[in-house]
Amino acid sequence: MTTTLLLIIAYLLGSIPSGLWIGKVFFHKNLQDYGSGNIGTTNTFRILGTKAGIVVFILDCLKGTLATILPSLLGIHTISPALFGLIAVLGHTFSIFNHFKGGKAVATAAGLFLGYSPWFVVILGILFLLTFYLTSMVSFSSIVCAATAAILILVLPFFHIIFVSYDWLFTITILFIASFIIIRHRENIVRIRNKTENIFNFGLNLTH
Ligand code: G3P
Repeated sequence: MTTTLLLIIAYLLGSIPSGLWIGKVFFHKNLQDYGSGNIGTTNTFRILGTKAGIVVFILDCLKGTLATILPSLLGIHTISPALFGLIAVLGHTFSIFNHFKGGKAVATAAGLFLGYSPWFVVILGILFLLTFYLTSMVSFSSIVCAATAAILILVLPFFHIIFVSYDWLFTITILFIASFIIIRHRENIVRIRNKTENIFNFGLNLTH
């Protein structure tokens, strides 16, 4: 019963479409009608500017972290915390507050990892910045990080690096989320292959 309730809370938390609501309330813009049409951090930066982008990233990230640490915050011993983060990620992507549509899961997944293993986020964060520095493509950097997360989660626990104990549910969750993120970027992948993907230039405009 408690677990079910926590899962519902995690879903509702993840469902909060921060980019969409901030756009509508403060900028009178529906992000779905602009740029890539995504309601996540990247399109917020692009359409609403740097400050809004940073706020949306923090909020979307926080949803994943909060959902993941919720059971331990409440002192409830239950199934793997990763599952609550996963539900928040699904909430972010299939939001009950936005006709079951949503973002591409990157920031909320980062929040999940942060709640579970901050060092994992540090490694992926450095990789993201490096890839972004080289390509100026957020989507490509996100895809590289998702693929790397899947590889690392299979390798690191085996060597007892970062993940001291093996949590098979967390491993499956990461593998699922990594694949999910890549699938959510299928339109970006087509654009990357066609060399027409948007180059990110800190909220100035969309360029190809
Ligand atoms: O996190 C989403 C990002 O990887 C791509 O966003 O708006 O360029 O499709 P966008």
